[in-house]
Amino acid sequence: MRTIHLSLVLLAVGPTSAAAQRPADLDRASGQDLYLATCANCHGADGTGLDRALVGFEEALPDFTDCRFASREPAADWVAIAHQGGPIRGFSQMMPAFGGALTEEQLGRVVDYVKSLCTDHAWPRGELNLPRAMFTEKAFPEDEWVIEADAALEGDAEFSTAFVYEKRFGPRAQLEAKIPYTVKRLSDAAHDGFVGGLGDVALGMKYAFHHDYASGTIASLSGEVALPTGDEAKGIGADGAKLEGFLSFGKIVAADGFLQAQAGVETGLYDGGEAEGFARLVLGRTWTSGPWGRSWTPMVEVLAVRELEGGSVVLDLVPQMQISLNTRQHVLFNVGVLVPTTQREGRSLRLVTYLLLDWFDGGFFEGW
Ligand code: HEC
Repeated sequence: MRTIHLSLVLLAVGPTSAAAQRPADLDRASGQDLYLATCANCHGADGTGLDRALVGFEEALPDFTDCRFASREPAADWVAIAHQGGPIRGFSQMMPAFGGALTEEQLGRVVDYVKSLCTDHAWPRGELNLPRAMFTEKAFPEDEWVIEADAALEGDAEFSTAFVYEKRFGPRAQLEAKIPYTVKRLSDAAHDGFVGGLGDVALGMKYAFHHDYASGTIASLSGEVALPTGDEAKGIGADGAKLEGFLSFGKIVAADGFLQAQAGVETGLYDGGEAEGFARLVLGRTWTSGPWGRSWTPMVEVLAVRELEGGSVVLDLVPQMQISLNTRQHVLFNVGVLVPTTQREGRSLRLVTYLLLDWFDGGFFEGW
């Protein structure tokens, strides 16, 4: 039965398939043999993709040997595409579905082979790109933009938003810029009513110094400077520039669970700027609707800050849920609640959200 399906697929993809050898025993065939028989007539024997003129359709074929592209997609997503066809992740239907011809296990073997075509191991595997939590900075270097927004749910009205832009350089490095904006209600000698303004713009750099797919771990070192662009008189921004240094760590736990941690220090570069130590921890797990559908990632974050010269620990808890919005799964939404847990005085419950675009995978309106 399977063999018949496979032959149909081979016939369907045109004359170049004549060159491919159909393995007699699909269960024992290597990933490479299966690839050559079923994928190579479009993707090329070397994985770089055949010329458009040869395949006879408009869509450009990806280059599986290009690590900058190939390393970042988790194998499971590629198995989904190979099993269900391109549209399952918002790609063209010119990428056919092989679920009728090959089992998930066989396609898993093909994808393992395809993954091996990127040979530069400096690039961390996409599986280590764990879901982004609301506050804990992840270790994986990213190409993304994020719009964050949060609002006080009690006490004085306050609403903040920030635009975060992250760009990856090479396999391990990333630059980041964050532009915050705050609107709040003030009633003091100078103000009565709503005030708004730019907050402290921050620039950062990250470097993933360790990653290991076998153990499911990744770690980075980051540095950040926050410039005093905010209006301190309105309570939007600090008195002067601040420097921050931290470590981020991520670990895959069981199949779809993960743990991420971040710890570091922040110090003000101005008179009276206190040095603070901070630690953040997040636990979560991803579920999908059906075998290939939307992903749901509930997470819980613990945030701890303490002034280094004494003072007690300020703790927050942030339960949250990240959801993929489109079929390509590169537009994500996260919503949660920040719950002040110690030193509640003057600190209110906050609604926290973000909207994220992984822009390397396509524009905002692609892949819905
Ligand atoms: C009939 C030609 C054809 C065959 C055969 C084919 N593909 Fe594709 N594949 C495509 C096209 C075209 C695209 C690009 C789709 C797009 O960009 O919208 C694609 C895209 C992909 C992608 C998505 C890469 C990304 O951008 O994330 C994967 C993974 C993939 N193919 C795997 C396979 C595997 C594995 C096989 C064999 C089991 C296979 N393909 C066989 C035409 C084909």
